[in-house]
Amino acid sequence: MKNKIASWFVFSFLVILTSELNAQTKNDKTTDAKIAGIIKKITLEEKIALLHANGTFSTGGVDRLGIPGLMTDDGPLGVREDVKEGFGRANLTTDSATFFPNGSALAATWNPALAYRYGHDLGEEARARKKYIMLAPAFNIARTPLCGRTYEYYSEDPYLNARLAVQSVKGIQSQHIAACVKHFAVNNQEVDRNRVSVNVDERALREIYLPAFKAAITEGDAWTIMSAYNKLRDEYCSENDYLLKKILRGEWKFKGIVISDWGGTHSTVNAANHGLDLEMGSEPPYNSYYFADKLLDSVKAGIVSMEVIDEKVKHILWVMYHTSLYDNPPEGKINTPEHTKTVYDIAAESIVLLKNDRHLLPLSVGSIKRIAVIGDNATRSFHLGGFGAGVKAKYEVTALAGLQDRLGRSVTINYAQGYSGVYKPSRTNPSPSTEPDSALIAQAVVTADSADVVILFIGGNRDYESEGRDRKDLSLPFGEQQLVNAVTAANSNTIIVIIGGAPYDIGRIKANNSTIVWSWYNGSENGNALADVLVGKVNPSGKLPFTFPADLKDSPPHALDAYPGENLKVDYKEGILVGYRWFDTKKIEPLYCFGYGLSYTTFDYSDLKTSKPSYQPTESINVTVKVKNSGKYAGKETVQLYVSKSGSAVDRAEKELKAFKKVMIAPGATAIVNLSIPVKDLAYYDDKTGKWIVEPGQYQLMVGTSSRDIKETTIITCSGLP
Ligand code: BGC
Repeated sequence: MKNKIASWFVFSFLVILTSELNAQTKNDKTTDAKIAGIIKKITLEEKIALLHANGTFSTGGVDRLGIPGLMTDDGPLGVREDVKEGFGRANLTTDSATFFPNGSALAATWNPALAYRYGHDLGEEARARKKYIMLAPAFNIARTPLCGRTYEYYSEDPYLNARLAVQSVKGIQSQHIAACVKHFAVNNQEVDRNRVSVNVDERALREIYLPAFKAAITEGDAWTIMSAYNKLRDEYCSENDYLLKKILRGEWKFKGIVISDWGGTHSTVNAANHGLDLEMGSEPPYNSYYFADKLLDSVKAGIVSMEVIDEKVKHILWVMYHTSLYDNPPEGKINTPEHTKTVYDIAAESIVLLKNDRHLLPLSVGSIKRIAVIGDNATRSFHLGGFGAGVKAKYEVTALAGLQDRLGRSVTINYAQGYSGVYKPSRTNPSPSTEPDSALIAQAVVTADSADVVILFIGGNRDYESEGRDRKDLSLPFGEQQLVNAVTAANSNTIIVIIGGAPYDIGRIKANNSTIVWSWYNGSENGNALADVLVGKVNPSGKLPFTFPADLKDSPPHALDAYPGENLKVDYKEGILVGYRWFDTKKIEPLYCFGYGLSYTTFDYSDLKTSKPSYQPTESINVTVKVKNSGKYAGKETVQLYVSKSGSAVDRAEKELKAFKKVMIAPGATAIVNLSIPVKDLAYYDDKTGKWIVEPGQYQLMVGTSSRDIKETTIITCSGLP
């Protein structure tokens, strides 16, 4: 009888608790009060179980009270396949998912609406797979083009990153799945990432490295954030009081969970007291984690207070309340036609036309009989590879398959591999050499010789660009340059398609080849989108999200010998002059500039106007510009608005992106494009006072089709802060 009463008690308690958690509340105060009530019912041991991993992507729950563990999962490319202990594949048949284009591809669309759709669909897939925290989006600034995760991240510009991050987060969380924005902060290289300490001046931190995180939290309302592996100013990011408590909780009012990167926790007391909530990692035994038995002991010893533990539990319950325990959750969906469409649309808008001097593109399909498709990347898939997050794609259309589908009935397509993209670095040989294969090149030349047109696919791949290591230089791997030379000599009608997630040295190709297309690790619909761009069904509209240097030494960290650091310290000597800010200010000609990308049509800009000539700091500058499609094809143009301030009290970049808009314009039509800049966005961060300052005086507004092709300019005046 006693037992029955006890189980009835537990049962009703469980029902009450779950309904307490599930109840929809109108405001956060009620939620907080409910959570406070629940926390009182949890024992210390149970609280500790909530604060560390108990599996590669999971945490403990409190069964007695019906509190589930958290289920997290990577990551930016789609919902990762299930794993066993560590990261070993579980080999299930139920864990395939949609493969979404990589981060720099999404950034190349310059289309925040697509970032929202990406997030929304990723959220639906996460829900279908019962993963309530998506370890995405990832958007560390592309400081050096060598960073192995450049492909995963967005761009070199804080404003572009922020606009995309906010929408990705909103999309994911529209499905009541928590976004986990990562990696907070200054995780801009993979070399020594577990130990390196970043020294960056406060102004660069605030103006370049933090804005997208700030926007993702304060505008996007991201519910979780991942601390980075590295240190900032000698403190690990996972125990960095300045980052986690002063900025994140204090200034940005973050309410959710700070999650460590996997294996990125380094202490119990410091991490606990300085703002980390949850320690994740993939190596058992989990009770030996800093936030397991050691945390329990530290609380018992009085070095970590119960209030600190309760705060962490509160953050966790608060996120559960919005996700796994959300009442009336949306329906999860996976591998749907709608998701396919999103992937296709992102891929189609991300592809960048770099050069089309002889108008070989779009292909004049009617007059072409034989196409030679050459290159390992034409048949390679990109959903898995290297070290780090991939996705077991339900399917992926390769470039060759896409072309065969679009052209196979009217055109003979012959394929030659040209090079082998197999890349297997090891501990003893971390950057194996990638020599040309003369036999494959010879076959390619024969295939090219007899074709009307050659489409030559080269670039990186998911083994070559990888988490955990940086590339050692920008050169094209696998003897691709030799292949390009040989094939182009055999057939001058050669179109070069480069697939990669980061800049490469394509200077010789730019000099010697007439036709160059840039594509990415572009998701399940990779080949379909590419084929449609090549045949002209889609007019390319991607714009580069980072500068391609003519020489690696021109890039700021390399020019200043400030990469990868010495004695595990890296000094960001370039300060705010990251990416195009450096190239423009120092008057260095890049190979291809930030924001660059051609179209099959042409756009004429005119009539740049502002709503008035002078502004108060609380106002917004409304700008209009006319853009005429003066060519034959309908096309999308990304209008980019840069601002400069001359005569400033502080060093300024030559120009900074402050607004952009992508518009579709029919041939012959003129669009009136509206852009708006809140005057407060013109502020610089004053590291002496810790304040954002809008300087009074004149600012130049520059509208262009890239950062270096400015079409119209005007001057406005701002009054300073009252
Ligand atoms: C990466 C994270 C990722 C985590 C879990 C780490 O190595 O840095 O981005 O989410 O692993 O896979």
